[in-house]
Amino acid sequence: MEALKGLILSGGAGTRLRPITHTSAKQLVPVANKPVLFYGIEALVGAGVTEIGIIIAPETGGEIRDAVGDGSRFGAEITYIEQAEPAGLAHAVLTAEQFLDNSPFVMYLGDNLLRNGLAGLVETFKAESPEAIILLTPVDDPGSYGVAELEDDHVVRLVEKPEDPPSNMALVGVYLFSPSIMDAARSLEPSWRGELEITEAIQVLIDQGRRVRSEVVDGWWKDTGQLGDMLEANRLVLEEIESRIDGELDDSRVEGRVIVEAGAVLKGSVVRGPAVIGADAMIEEAYIGPYTSIGENVTIRRSEVEHSILLAGATVEDLGTRMEASLLGRDVRVVRTDGPPKTFRLLVGDRSEIEII
Ligand code: G1P
Repeated sequence: MEALKGLILSGGAGTRLRPITHTSAKQLVPVANKPVLFYGIEALVGAGVTEIGIIIAPETGGEIRDAVGDGSRFGAEITYIEQAEPAGLAHAVLTAEQFLDNSPFVMYLGDNLLRNGLAGLVETFKAESPEAIILLTPVDDPGSYGVAELEDDHVVRLVEKPEDPPSNMALVGVYLFSPSIMDAARSLEPSWRGELEITEAIQVLIDQGRRVRSEVVDGWWKDTGQLGDMLEANRLVLEEIESRIDGELDDSRVEGRVIVEAGAVLKGSVVRGPAVIGADAMIEEAYIGPYTSIGENVTIRRSEVEHSILLAGATVEDLGTRMEASLLGRDVRVVRTDGPPKTFRLLVGDRSEIEII
C-alpha cells in the first residue's frame, strides 16, 4: 500500500472554550504545558506518517503556523491548507484534495488526544486495506458525538449528534481512509447544522457495501473541546510524567512526580505531583496541588492552586481560598489586595466565567 498521509484538522471556532479561544486556537491550549495539537502530530509521526497536511482557519491559521512551523522539529513535513469557512469535517477533506492526491490517509481532529497513539491502527489498515477504519469509545453523553449503531461488532449505521442515540459508542476524532472517502464526501448535502459531516460520508461507504472496520479505543481518549475535558486530559497526561527538576528549589518541597523547568523558582512552597511548573515561573509561599500545569512565566504567591491549567504569564496572588478546576488564559491576573472596602474588582473579557464559592 502507498504510504499514508496525515490530515490534521485545526480550524474550528472553539466556541465551547471561550474566552480562551477568542484570542487563541483551541488546538494550542496546553495540556501538561504542551499544545494539544503537538500530541496529534507526534502520534502521526510515531506511526510513521510524516507527510502531514494541517487544515487551518483564516482567523487562527497564522498562530498555528507560528507554533508548528515546517514540522522539521517533529520529523514531519507539514503543508498548511486553509479552509475558508468551518463547513464541516467532510468539507475539510474535500479542501485537502490536492494535498491528499489519492493517497490513503489518517484524519486526526487537532483537539483530540489518544493515549495509545496510532501505530497499531496504521498497521491494521495496511494489513487489511479496508475502505475505512473508525474508532469508537463508550461515552456517557453520546448525543454530543457521532454515534455508531452496531450489530455484533459490525457497524450498520452512523448518526451525527443524535437526539435519540442508538448506542453509547461515540466516534472518536481519528479516522483512516482510502481515497474513496473523497467521492463519498462529494455526494453529501449540508446537515442540519449546515456542515458536510464526515459521519455521513462514512455512512455512504457503508451503504455502498464497502468495508468499514471499527475498533474500540484501548487506553483513554479525550476530545479537549470543553473545560472539563481539558482538565481531565491534563490529569491523564500528568499521570504519566517522569520527575525532572531543572529549576531552583529554595526552602521548598516537591512530592510525587513533578517537573520543574529551567529558570523556575520555588520559594517556601510545596508542590504535590503530578504537576508541571513551566520555565521561569515564580512560586512563592504557595501550594501547588496534583494535576496542575503551570505555564511559563507564571507567578503564584501566597495561594493554593490544584487541578488547574495556568497559561503563560498568568499571576495569582493572595487568594485566601484554594483555586481548583480552573483554566486561566495568558497573562490573566487574579490578585487580592488589602484594605476595605471588601469588594470584588473585576476586569474580565467577553464570555469569561467566574464562580465565587
Ligand atoms: C466531531 C465529529 C463527531 C465526533 C467528534 C469527536 O464533532 O463530527 O462525529 O464524535 O468530532 O471529537 P465536533 O467536534 O464537530 O462537534
